[in-house]
Amino acid sequence: MDDRELLQMALKAKATAYAPYSGFEVGAALVTNRGKVYTGVNVENAALGATNCAERTAVFRAVSEGERKIAAIAVAADGDAIPYPCGICRQVLAEFGDAGMRIICGSSSDKFTVHTLGELLPHAFKLR
Ligand code: THU
Repeated sequence: MDDRELLQMALKAKATAYAPYSGFEVGAALVTNRGKVYTGVNVENAALGATNCAERTAVFRAVSEGERKIAAIAVAADGDAIPYPCGICRQVLAEFGDAGMRIICGSSSDKFTVHTLGELLPHAFKLR
């Protein structure tokens, strides 16, 4: 599973995003260290704070299925701006991956970036 393939899966996943309040639809696709792929979308709520980002949806699906280690995750949204993971999602990713986890962020305009988790969240909070 290379970065472009993962980004394509995130773009495809975006089709089922539930974003009636912001209109900003996000898709994510991650691959675990065992090679399993999980997708996710943002799921908004009338009580906006109850909204779940696409990245966390994908992580929680993977963890619910017994996965514990994420190798890479792609995030995709429409528009020109690169959709980087929010701070909460970065912290959640840090729970299930090491600093070398690849984070691929892309927009529909075929522009994408690749960073490591260590670059996006240096000195992550950890208890173990
Ligand atoms: N969103 C994500 O799905 N991922 C992020 O990393 C940032 C934000 C969603 C949450 C909300 O549904 C919409 O984008 C606008 O903030």
